[in-house]
Amino acid sequence: MARLLLIVFLGWLVGCGDAPPANEQTDASRKAVTGLKDVAPFPIGGAVSIRKLAGDTALRAIVTTEFSSLTSTNDMKMYSIAAREGQLDFARADSTVAFAEANGMRMFGHALVWHYGLPEYITSKDRAGMEAFLTEYIDTVVTHFRGRVDGWDVVNEVFDTRGGELRATPFYTAMGEDYIELAFRTAHAADPQAKLFINDFGTERDTSKLNALVDLVVRMRQTGVPIHGIGFQWHQQMRDDTAVIRQTLRRAAATGLLLHISELDLIFNTHNDAAGGGVEEISRMTPELLAAQADRYETLARIYRQEVPAPQRYGITFWDFTDRDTWIRGFFDMNDWPTLYDDDLQPKPAYDGFRRGLEER
Ligand code: XIL
Repeated sequence: MARLLLIVFLGWLVGCGDAPPANEQTDASRKAVTGLKDVAPFPIGGAVSIRKLAGDTALRAIVTTEFSSLTSTNDMKMYSIAAREGQLDFARADSTVAFAEANGMRMFGHALVWHYGLPEYITSKDRAGMEAFLTEYIDTVVTHFRGRVDGWDVVNEVFDTRGGELRATPFYTAMGEDYIELAFRTAHAADPQAKLFINDFGTERDTSKLNALVDLVVRMRQTGVPIHGIGFQWHQQMRDDTAVIRQTLRRAAATGLLLHISELDLIFNTHNDAAGGGVEEISRMTPELLAAQADRYETLARIYRQEVPAPQRYGITFWDFTDRDTWIRGFFDMNDWPTLYDDDLQPKPAYDGFRRGLEER
């Protein structure tokens, strides 16, 4: 399968413009098969939609060349698997896991419990109803993928957008803080080998939120709740302070847990974290902006290498990795160029920057 994809990919390369002379072609091919995953001292992941991947040879080539870990952008979420009451739909999630296996990639599960986009039949449950639903849902899903999904974002975005309060999700409203522990214990019972993460955003720039996250994780460890890692989404903005980012990682590394940069992208424009809340101050790319983005990707890779001890590096995952497909444009309703590949699926300076940050000794 991997060889077949490589052949398809090389065919695609040759199909791009005039075929280069034979020796150059060999060099280009050699470079192409040495992806980020081959130069990184930890897993490098990409988040994908299996529907897009299935119909797009060029996208598949990027994924199989560059990444050693795969996350599904939406197909393993509760709103996808449990969209209809009383029936779970694993079709797309199964295809995604099969793709990862066929290409020798680690599969990461995102996300068992997340408040966003849920159907009404879930959001309206009372305490007993929610407890029963969550227990059965998590048990069934984690058991379904036991031994095939390496780790899970068990809970996603349990904190408010800003500050350290727990978010008033339907789970919280029904069960209070208890839903978090229930989720981890149920997932662990279903697959004792799976690495279990808490995942959130904004903690790299909001110290109160980071404090609350670290406190929660430490408390969970002390009371024997099976949690193994912290996920930092890192939907970063160009203006974020890299000194704060470094401190955050240092602080999190002190917990001794696995650290996953789980959804990396690097945004030029600003937004208020809510759907449709983008402010488009920059409307086109310049060489200077692209170079600044490359520098920052390099710095982020370096900070991760420097601050996270090797046994705690679960890796860095990109959340969409082409500007063509980035969720940032649709979700915040603004233009942006936050990823490693441009609208034509060509590597940007950001790609080289990130790679430099991985490779430098
Ligand atoms: C996003 C997807 O990329 C979009 O396609 C979807 O419409 C909304 O969710 N934090 C997360 C991810 O944890 O699950 C989100 O993914 C992006 C923000």
